[in-house]
Amino acid sequence: MSVDLSVVFTGLRFENPFMLSSAPPTESDTNIMRAYEFGWGGVVTKTIGLHPVINVKGPRTKFIRATPESYHLSMQKRPGTALHSSWNWELISDKTLDWWVPRIERIKRGYPSKILVASIMAGSGSDRELRHWQTLATACQEAGADAFELNLSCPHMDRDDMGSNVGKNEHLITVVTQAVKEVAKAPVWAKLTPSTTDIVVEARAAFAGGADAVVSSNTFPSLPLIDPVTLDFEMNVEGYVSYGGLGGPAILPLSLAKMAQMTQAFPAKSFSGIGGIGEFAHALNYFLLGCGTVQVCTAAMLDHAIGPNIIRGLIDSMRAFLERHADKGWTSLEDFRGLRRDHILAHSQIKRPDDKEYRGGYEVEGYAEPAAEPATVQAPGVVLK
Ligand SMILES: Cc1cc2nc3c(=O)[nH]c(=O)nc-3n(C[C@H](O)[C@H](O)[C@H](O)COP(=O)(O)O)c2cc1C
Repeated sequence: MSVDLSVVFTGLRFENPFMLSSAPPTESDTNIMRAYEFGWGGVVTKTIGLHPVINVKGPRTKFIRATPESYHLSMQKRPGTALHSSWNWELISDKTLDWWVPRIERIKRGYPSKILVASIMAGSGSDRELRHWQTLATACQEAGADAFELNLSCPHMDRDDMGSNVGKNEHLITVVTQAVKEVAKAPVWAKLTPSTTDIVVEARAAFAGGADAVVSSNTFPSLPLIDPVTLDFEMNVEGYVSYGGLGGPAILPLSLAKMAQMTQAFPAKSFSGIGGIGEFAHALNYFLLGCGTVQVCTAAMLDHAIGPNIIRGLIDSMRAFLERHADKGWTSLEDFRGLRRDHILAHSQIKRPDDKEYRGGYEVEGYAEPAAEPATVQAPGVVLK
C-alpha cells in the first residue's frame, strides 16, 4: 500500500503537514521560497503589522544549552552541550505591508501548490484598530495568501493593546476574529497565547468569532537567566531586560498540555500544533492529540535558518512510520490523528494499585530508597505508617 503524506486542513491541501511557523525562518520571500524547495508543505509569514516596529539593540534571540551530567544551563556557547530552549524578544516583522504584498504575490506565483499563510497583527479596542486587521487581511488576500493566522499571542509587544494581551481577553479574541472573518475569503486561524489559566476559554472565544482553526503555542513568557559571576542577565541591553518568549525543546510538554486541553474540548475542530518540534516523534505527539498540521521554529533556526535537515527528517520519518503501520491499514495522517486524545483523564480517574501492592512509588528515579523496616515517621500530632 502506498503512503500519502498530504493532508487537507481548513479546506486547504498541503503536500505534507509540516510548516515553518511565523518567525525568522519566514521573514523574507527568499527564505520562504528556499524553504519550499527543501520540502516544507506550508509556511506562515513572519507577522505583518501596520505600526512601525523597532527592535531592541543587540541580539533578539539566543539559545539556552544544557551540560550533560550537570544542571548547568547557560546561553554561553560551549562544546558538548544540548539545546534546552530558545529565548527571544524579537518583535513582529519590521518590514511594511507594502514590502510584503509584492513578495507574497511573487511567492504564490512561483509556488502555487505550496501553502502560504499570512500572519497578521493589529491593535484592539477601537474601530480604527479593527479596520487595521481588515486592511492587512484584504491586502494579503489580494496578493494571494491561502489563509490568515491572527497573532493573538506574542508575549512581548511594544504596545499593550496587541499580541498576547488580546489573546488573554476572550471578548477581544472574538471581536478581532469576527472583524477578519468579515473580509476574509480564505480560512482564518487564531494563534493563541499559552499564558492563560484555561486556554479552552480563549479557544472557545476564537471559534465563536468564526475561526477555522486554533494554533498553539507561541513562546512562553520568560526571562533569561542571571549569570552567577557577572550578576547580569545573560541577555540584556545596558544591564536591562524585559520579558521575552521561551521556545524549543523545553516547551514541548507544556505546549502539548495546552493542545490536549483544546482538542479534548473541541474534538471536531482544526488545530495546528507548535512548540518544541525537532523530529517526527515530537510532531507525532501533536497528531495523536488531534492536530492536523504542525509548525516548527527553533529547530529550523538552528538548521541553516530554514531547517533543510529538519524537514527531510520529518518527511522521511512520517513515511517510515506509515509503512511500519501498514498492517493496520494506515496510509495517511487521518488514520492515526487523535488516537491518544481520549487517553488523558482527570487524575482521580487514573487507576490506583491494590492496597497490598502500594509501595508509595519510592522505587523509581527521584524518590528515596525504601527503608529496610516499615518506616514510622512522626511529626507533631501526626503518625504516618
Ligand atoms: C525569534 C523568534 C521570533 C518569533 N516571531 C514570531 C512572530 O512574528 N509571530 C508569531 O506568531 N510567532 C513568532 N514566534 C513564535 C514561533 O512562531 C513559535 O510559535 C515558537 O517559537 C514555538 O515554536 P518552537 O518551539 O518550534 O520554537 C517567534 C519565535 C522566535 C524564536
